[in-house]
This record gives sequence, C-alpha cells and structure tokens, in this order.
Amino acid sequence: MSKWNITFAKIFCIKLNQKSDIQKDSIERVDLAHNDFFEYLRKNEYARLDEHQHTYLDYTGGGLYAKSQIESHFKLLTQNILGNPHSTNPSSLLATQLVAEARQKVLDFFNAKEYYSIFTQNASNALKIIGECYPFNTNSHFMLLADNHNSVNGIREFCLSKGGKVTYAPIYFENLRMDENFVQSRLENNEEFEDKLFAFPAQSNVSGVKHDLKWIKIAQDKGWDVLLDAAAFVPSNKLDLSLYHPDFVCVSFYKIFGYPTGLGCLLVKKDKFEKLHKPWFAGGTVSFVSVNALHYSLIGNHERFEDGTLNYLDIPAIKTGLDYIESIGIDKINERVATLRSYLCKALTELKHDNGKEVVKISGPTDNRNVGGTMILSFYNVDGKRYDFEEIELLANKINISSRSGCFCNPGIDETNSCLTAEEISKYYTSNSSGTYEYKDMERFFGRMRGATRISVGIATTQKDLDVFVNFVKSLLNK
Ligand SMILES: Cc1ncc(COP(=O)(O)O)c(C=O)c1O
Repeated sequence: MSKWNITFAKIFCIKLNQKSDIQKDSIERVDLAHNDFFEYLRKNEYARLDEHQHTYLDYTGGGLYAKSQIESHFKLLTQNILGNPHSTNPSSLLATQLVAEARQKVLDFFNAKEYYSIFTQNASNALKIIGECYPFNTNSHFMLLADNHNSVNGIREFCLSKGGKVTYAPIYFENLRMDENFVQSRLENNEEFEDKLFAFPAQSNVSGVKHDLKWIKIAQDKGWDVLLDAAAFVPSNKLDLSLYHPDFVCVSFYKIFGYPTGLGCLLVKKDKFEKLHKPWFAGGTVSFVSVNALHYSLIGNHERFEDGTLNYLDIPAIKTGLDYIESIGIDKINERVATLRSYLCKALTELKHDNGKEVVKISGPTDNRNVGGTMILSFYNVDGKRYDFEEIELLANKINISSRSGCFCNPGIDETNSCLTAEEISKYYTSNSSGTYEYKDMERFFGRMRGATRISVGIATTQKDLDVFVNFVKSLLNK
C-alpha cells in the first residue's frame, strides 16, 4: 500500500471478529454476523442515508461512495501537489505514480494479467472505442443480445456504416434470459465472415439476469471476438479474467463504489490490442508525429487510447475505491445482494389486492437463480389496470425513495416485455414525420404501455430500506 492510501482498519477489525464468530457458532449465526457487518457499514460509511431518511434503491444507476473513501481522497488532494503527468517535475511524477498504481490495482482487481487497462470517461466511452476501432467491413458480423444497454446497441451503427452485418439474439419473454439455441446456431455457420464480434452484458442492467459467461469461450472457439459489458455485473460479482477471457471488457467505476464519476475503463486482451485500429491520434497517444511528412506512430500500450490529459486528480480514487471493496470482499457483497433480492422478491410476490389480483408484477426471473440485485416492476390497481411508471415514481419520490423508471437505455428488454414486433415499431417510426419520439405518443400508437419501475440494491442497502419499499407497495393495495 502506498503512503497515500487509507487503511480501513475498522472494517478489517470487524471482518476479523466476524471470522472468529463464524468459526465458533452455528450457521444461523453466520447470517446474523453478516447483517451486523453491513449494518455497521451503513451506520459508519453511509450515515447520510439515515440522516436524510432516504431510501436509495438505484444502485444500478449509480453506486454510493463510503465516507472513508471521500476522506481518504480529500486527504490525498489536500496534502499533496499533483501536476499533469508524464513530466519529470515532482508534482508530475507523483501524479504519474498514482495513476500507475490505480491502473495496476484495476488489473489486480480483475486478475487481468493478460490485459491492457485503458482509462476512459465511463463504460459508454470504452464501448465507443470498440465501435470506432474494431475493423468492421463488408465481411464483418456483429451479433449482440437483445438485452443490451444502448451504449452497446450503438456499436451496430459503426458496423452498418462499414457495410457489415448485424444480428440481434433474442431473449425469452417469460424470463428475459438468452435464447441459447439461437445464439449457438448463429455462432456456428459464419465462416464466410472475417471479423466477427459478439457482445453481451454479464448482467442485465434492467432485469438483473446474469448471462452465462460460458458463451465467451464458446464464441471464441467458433472464431468470434467477444465484448463483455461488465458495467452492471462488477459492482456485486467477482469478474476473474484469469478464468474468463473476453477480448474486450467495459466498466464504469462509479457503479462499483460511487466516487469518482466520470471514470471507467476498457480492458483489452493483449493479443487483440493490434486488432483495434484507432482512426486518429491525439496528445498523449503517439510516440512520433511529423507535420512535414504526415507520418505518425501510436504508442504500443494503453496510452494509445487515452486521448489528451488524463483525469489525474480522480484516478487515484479508483485505487481507494477498489481497496475499500476488497476490504469488505466482493463475495460477501455478492451474497448480501442475493439475500436482499430474494427477501424483496418474496415480500413483493406475497402482496395481493383483497380480490386476489396482483398489485405488482416482477418481470424476469423470480427464482433468484443467476440474477443480480436489480429487478423491474409494473404496478396494477385493484381492477387490474396498470399504473403509469411516472405515477409510481412521483409517489415514491414523495416519501424519499430513489427508484428509477422508463426503459433504462435498454430498449430490447422493453420491446420483449411489451411484445412489440419489428413491424409495429417500423410502422410507428416511418409514420412519425416529426422526428420526435415521445413515450406517450408511442404508447398511444401501440395501444399499450411501455416502461417499468426499476429497483436495485447494493452495498449500503438494509432490510429497513426494503421494508420501506414494501410498505410503499402496500399503500397501493385495494386502490
Ligand atoms: C450494463 C451497462 N452497460 C453500460 C452502461 C453505460 O454506463 P455509463 O453510463 O457509465 O457509460 C450502463 C449504465 O447504466 C450499464 O448498466
């Protein structure tokens, strides 16, 4: 650990005590110790939630930072002089060192010895690098799951503009999981294509479904490159890149530990690095440029894709954040999130209007198998009429619940959920000459509602938060 690092002494201490308790006591005691630990974190690191009586249930939107992360970073900034990296002056050298430490921490955290770690603004920016630099051409095939964030969907435009083929692999209406037969058959029989890229999220940012990482190797064995969107997965799951070897991986750090925003990374497997063709150069990315002869040479490592001055004041906070997560243990966070999700799932499915009709419906899996701490909900009144998601959000806002609603930048889930066909959507799109596409207008055209309410749990969630939400749903009963 560098001298600028915080020590999470209190947390380590609790962890050790907990271990000895676990060894001594029964299985039931393990769960209790577990809860005590997270209650401790809530009180000491996230006290602002209770001070504001705030029920935060939007962890897939953004994680929350711990108090100690901010204190540590504040100390770093107020006690040191940091200058623009890549010079030999002392302020620059310190910034260079801290950026290098953060980069190494990212590689260690994901066990990514075979990868370059490229700092980006966020996951979307990492994905844009792939869109711009993957060698799409008339012999390319880009296959992606219908369950993808728009920042992955948008890559198709790079492929299409270069004359490549795009295929969406569907998900099932019933459980929002991948249609494995479709994927298997499309991964095969594609010998005529030279550059084939398969993209899927390790975890859906909407349904919470974890798509099986076995598809990485299956696709690669058939000659595909694999882009894994790990943005919604890594806040509560271990991604070990010595076990799985996707060619490209994107993450956003604020989703894992809340602070800083504005930083993500693209992990590129070293043996695929030269396959990405950067179409331009910028400051910090070149080892040689001439203006007289128009020659240039790009740097042969992560720096090639880090345009201009790095966010050197915030990058050191990535190491602080990852140290914090490690001090708790990602497996422990995983277990906690799974417990919270199943608690919420059970409580919600038990709620019914007195006439037996459901007040809330969970779309996607309710069996808690291979699913993370995210779920989408639709609400119904006593007559079975669906509420607008805006109405639910307004009601939740009034009692200080942070949920999220809409379609969450993932139109594939919403189209599957709403059973919208390609023909219907094309008809709406081509009949609308105004060029503006309003949700309400779309709903009128399709004659059905779209969107949902999303609830996501995370590191600082307690049972009390879930009870507040369940009581909120209860307030809709028999109305
Ligand atoms: C699965 C997934 N991919 C990509 C993104 C884009 O992340 P960002 O907005 O940080 O670029 C998100 C954001 O919610 C996401 O959940």
